[in-house]
Amino acid sequence: MKIINPIHSNLIERKEEFFSKKPFPHIILDDFLEKKYFSLLEKQISKNNYFKKGKSFNSNLESNKSISLNTNLPDIISNITTVLNSYDWVEVLKSLTGIQTLKSTKVGNTKLANYHEMGTNGFLGSHVDHSTDPSNGLPHVLNIILYLSSEWKENFGGATLLFDKKGKKIISKIKYKKNRAVIFLHTPYSFHGVERLQDNKGLKRKTLYVDYYSESTNPFEKFDLDFPNKWFKHGTTFVLPNSSDYLKAKNWPYTKSLIKYKIEHLKSKL
Ligand SMILES: [Fe+2]
Repeated sequence: MKIINPIHSNLIERKEEFFSKKPFPHIILDDFLEKKYFSLLEKQISKNNYFKKGKSFNSNLESNKSISLNTNLPDIISNITTVLNSYDWVEVLKSLTGIQTLKSTKVGNTKLANYHEMGTNGFLGSHVDHSTDPSNGLPHVLNIILYLSSEWKENFGGATLLFDKKGKKIISKIKYKKNRAVIFLHTPYSFHGVERLQDNKGLKRKTLYVDYYSESTNPFEKFDLDFPNKWFKHGTTFVLPNSSDYLKAKNWPYTKSLIKYKIEHLKSKL
């Protein structure tokens, strides 16, 4: 059975659109999975026992979120990650982005979690992800997020938010809609997050996430972006809503990663 809808098998035609989007290159692919496959998936993930909790988060910046770290994903989900990491799909992404050195990762659902869930009042603050493949240090350059929940209504929130290069101002909001995929260029300036969920009647915001890497340490050099196109190394780094938040003891891990990020940022300009 086909998994990805063949209407998305030739993304070279959308390269210009991808690079024209602000604040950083991205594209929305609706009806991403084949209709039949998505119906099967809907049935399976609506059962209660399909996902054994991996790791949970509940803090100021990562609220009511759980990820599938170190768990076995059901086949109906892992088949999708397999296709998203396949040679053919990576070729499609190469044509969309022009990154000829693009690679999938072998890390899988152990050090990086592919499946995420968010519950009532959940939200995810502005952040950039890890900058390197945990297994080989290659630069992290691209993300795909697939929205899996059915019955989602716009007033539940849960959009993917894309922020300015400092991670402070929302520039673009990609609404949560079932079977929609979002692909975005992941640079040290690609700050993103999740809009707070509200009145979502116990429905979970389910997403699948796969990231891609580049064999070049200067993967964005040919790109004309609204921010420096130099990649640098950093950990997952959050931007807190108010400057005073950095002084709170409970936020120290966030403050520490931001300091490290700022140092690497300065070094990248030398
Ligand atoms: Fe992220």
